[in-house]
Amino acid sequence: MGAPIGATDVDYSLTGTSHDRAVAEGLANAEWFLADIDAARLRELQQRTDRRATADVVLWLVLLVASGVWAYLSVWSWWSIPAFAIYGALYGGAADPRWHEMGHGTAFRTAWLNDLIYPVASFMLLRGPTVWRWSHYRHHTDTIIVGRDAEISFQRPANVRRTVLAFTGVPGAFQMFARLVRHAAGRIDDDAKEFVPESEWRKVVWESRVFVAIVVGAAVWSLVAWTPLPILFIGGPTWYGMWLMVFFGITQHAGLRENVLDHRYSTRTVYMNPVFRFLYLNMNYHVEHHMFPSVPYRNLPALHDEIADQLAPAHPTTWSAYREIFTTLSRQQRDPSYEAPLDVPDVPGAHHRIDVGETNWVRHADGAIDLGAADAMSPGELRQIDIDGASYVLACIGEGDFALCDGVCTHAKVQLSGGALVDGEIECPKHNARFDARTGEVRRGPAKAPLASYPVRVDGRRVVTDL
Ligand code: FES
Repeated sequence: MGAPIGATDVDYSLTGTSHDRAVAEGLANAEWFLADIDAARLRELQQRTDRRATADVVLWLVLLVASGVWAYLSVWSWWSIPAFAIYGALYGGAADPRWHEMGHGTAFRTAWLNDLIYPVASFMLLRGPTVWRWSHYRHHTDTIIVGRDAEISFQRPANVRRTVLAFTGVPGAFQMFARLVRHAAGRIDDDAKEFVPESEWRKVVWESRVFVAIVVGAAVWSLVAWTPLPILFIGGPTWYGMWLMVFFGITQHAGLRENVLDHRYSTRTVYMNPVFRFLYLNMNYHVEHHMFPSVPYRNLPALHDEIADQLAPAHPTTWSAYREIFTTLSRQQRDPSYEAPLDVPDVPGAHHRIDVGETNWVRHADGAIDLGAADAMSPGELRQIDIDGASYVLACIGEGDFALCDGVCTHAKVQLSGGALVDGEIECPKHNARFDARTGEVRRGPAKAPLASYPVRVDGRRVVTDL
């Protein structure tokens, strides 16, 4: 999350030498370490509800509006300073985890509610919705891989002064707005071209035009009315409220190892108090989120309990994380190769994909394939089935109700059986694309191509297909 802050000697662009090196070294689109977790427990944790997300979004909006009203009523008095500070933090800071969770499509169970909040939060952060959606897919594919990840915010060589300056929002918000202006003018930057499909470039341009027009409109209104109020309420809070985004965001990856295919070395989990966790939507459980992005934010603490013994110990407080970050950054200023010591357990048996169990299948003389007992799977369960070198996913939609599709996501070749079955849709465990379990049609990007689907039936309590 967050825009790159400051220029460095290392080539962090997505089109330079680091990109080629990452690809050559097998760091691009690679397999990552996954903690062991019981598949049934993971399924429980992947469940979505609307209730919790509604409560969190409504509370956020109520606080935003209340602080805005307070700021308006107290304007030109000393009270307007704390009022605008709170308004800005909720707008330019707390919008970031909302943007993030809605972008994954995991906050609300009802898909259109995620899609409704996502562009609003994108505007509050001056992020083009489409560019940043694809940028974040890449961030999850190649987390902190130099030359591949467009969201490495704290780049090397480390610079403590530049890091502190980031809290002002000045460099970050200017970079974001300048990028929007470029895209609005039709000049899509090389990095964005690298990860946004060309079919979406037009959308990028138009979204940027709308966002720039709103901000410019607020600025013109301020000039014409000769009052800073419009721009202080619209557009401006991204600048003066961004500090909260940096305050939380810096704990995610700053100072940790680059170019490693294990989130336990590149990502931090930090215990935070309930107020911080509300503002940050539990993203302090960041290793857990990166390993299992199909688990909604509300279940990340429970996910942490399941896999904590396979991770480096979480930081006990935000302060402890900050101490490590600034100590590391200041050592890295002198010695760019310095790494903060991490106590990552050597986990025997840890593997690179979610264990969904063995499925035996038998081909009958008439060619029908028996996939096992119907009552061996419970509703919501997904099973990987490999037959003659091809992978399929068997979905148990309800009691005795099954669907069978190709088992590999059409976006980036990930096994779908490790994902979730949500309202009859198979969700990919990597970037949350969704496919209709019965027809294989794409219901949610980034996947574009559908899965092939196959007839499957229950015959005498056995699940049978005629592949
Ligand atoms: S691999 Fe990206 S959505 Fe499936």
